[in-house]
Amino acid sequence: MSSLRFPENFLWGAATAAYQIEGAARDDGRGPSIWDTFSRTPGRVHQGHTGDVACDHYHRYAEDVALMAELGLRAYRFSIAWPRIQPDGTGPVNPRGLDFYDRLVDALLARGIDPIVTLYHWDLPQSLGDRGGWTNRDTAEHFATYAAATYGRLGDRVDVWTTLNEPWCSAYLGYGSGVHAPGEQDPAAAFTAVHHLLLGHGLAARALRAAGARTVGITLNPADVRPADGSSAADAAAVRLVDGLHNRIFLDPLLAGGYPEDVLEHVGRIVEPTFVRDGDEKLIAAPIDLLGINYYQPTYVAGRPDGAGGGGAYPGTDGAVEFLPPVGPLTDMGWMVEPAGLTRLLERIATDYPGVPLLITENGAAYPDKPGVDSPGGPSQVLDTDRIAYLEGHLRAAHEAISRGVDLRGYLVWSLLDNFEWAEGYRRRFGIVHVDYLTQRRTPKSSARWYQEVISRNGL
Ligand code: FCB
Repeated sequence: MSSLRFPENFLWGAATAAYQIEGAARDDGRGPSIWDTFSRTPGRVHQGHTGDVACDHYHRYAEDVALMAELGLRAYRFSIAWPRIQPDGTGPVNPRGLDFYDRLVDALLARGIDPIVTLYHWDLPQSLGDRGGWTNRDTAEHFATYAAATYGRLGDRVDVWTTLNEPWCSAYLGYGSGVHAPGEQDPAAAFTAVHHLLLGHGLAARALRAAGARTVGITLNPADVRPADGSSAADAAAVRLVDGLHNRIFLDPLLAGGYPEDVLEHVGRIVEPTFVRDGDEKLIAAPIDLLGINYYQPTYVAGRPDGAGGGGAYPGTDGAVEFLPPVGPLTDMGWMVEPAGLTRLLERIATDYPGVPLLITENGAAYPDKPGVDSPGGPSQVLDTDRIAYLEGHLRAAHEAISRGVDLRGYLVWSLLDNFEWAEGYRRRFGIVHVDYLTQRRTPKSSARWYQEVISRNGL
């Protein structure tokens, strides 16, 4: 295969999220989050796994940062646990919670690694969950207060601030399908949550800017929605509907001034959108400096009157849309491997929503890694050629988008470490670094060494 070079200053890095790696669930005044509650609820998470210990990153961050430096990472995207900063979600900040991120940021900067902050990666303080979570408009206001407090402590050293990670998951999986915390199955709640999440983004972005932040953004997981049959009008209509519910419901208010008519009409059949108040859309549409894109696989749909629809994750699609089962080769999540979907998605966003720089904030794959010779402390090597192939294919796809003119600023692999994969618990391994959960020993997989090489060459 041909060799490829990425633009100068292309940002190479890795991503993680607080609840998935930190552990230390009760340390230094951290309050409970909706994920603590959800993971303790029987039947919600594979084998009752929780984030109580996870990768123990809270105590091992220095070792982990040293590993990042060894791999040559230029950027590290991590999330801040709101329940560490405000254990009850409101009220006085807990300085010991902020101290942890203070230490982490200093450790990163000392190694020349740019910190990229995500303010919300799904771990809502439980006491806000008790008051309706994202279905309660007040949560959006509280989020802005938390964002400002966090900026106040870290803003002098952190340049890149993103508000939410994948509000699609928070809203539709949290309140629609119930696969994620808080585990509700209520289509009206899902749409209400979509709006309050976007409002929370808008309020937090405004607060961050007022405090002096220069680079403010948000991370979405837009879908590359494809028709089963490119010549079918019914399939094209299904694409339009699913694209509206998954993509345009977020992208249009953020980047095109407001919700699209067809989406509001669809939502209106499920719930009267009175939660959208005067001024909300203007606030949400305030310019951002960066759009984070998480991409894993494409979505194929067909328009069929007897289609099963997407269940709670796509309210109102039953009896109209069929979601096609993924076809091989599949990852350990059962997700399709289709790098071309990333090129299409990046190009589409750059075309339909021009002017905002893009950053791939997550891309990667779970595979049932088979560690090599086991030693008492953990495996000595992990030969993950399938992950290397996945990453290489997607980097080529990202490069293709750049060569077609997309303003793509960097690539962050998901994930640095094997970690708590939400409802799947620890059974899915996404890391380029293997974690032995018994000993907490970290072993860079072959993909980590391969990635190190990619970074040092700035290409493939
Ligand atoms: C994304 C999440 C991330 C991780 C990957 C596999 O949806 O943002 O936390 O779980 O999927």
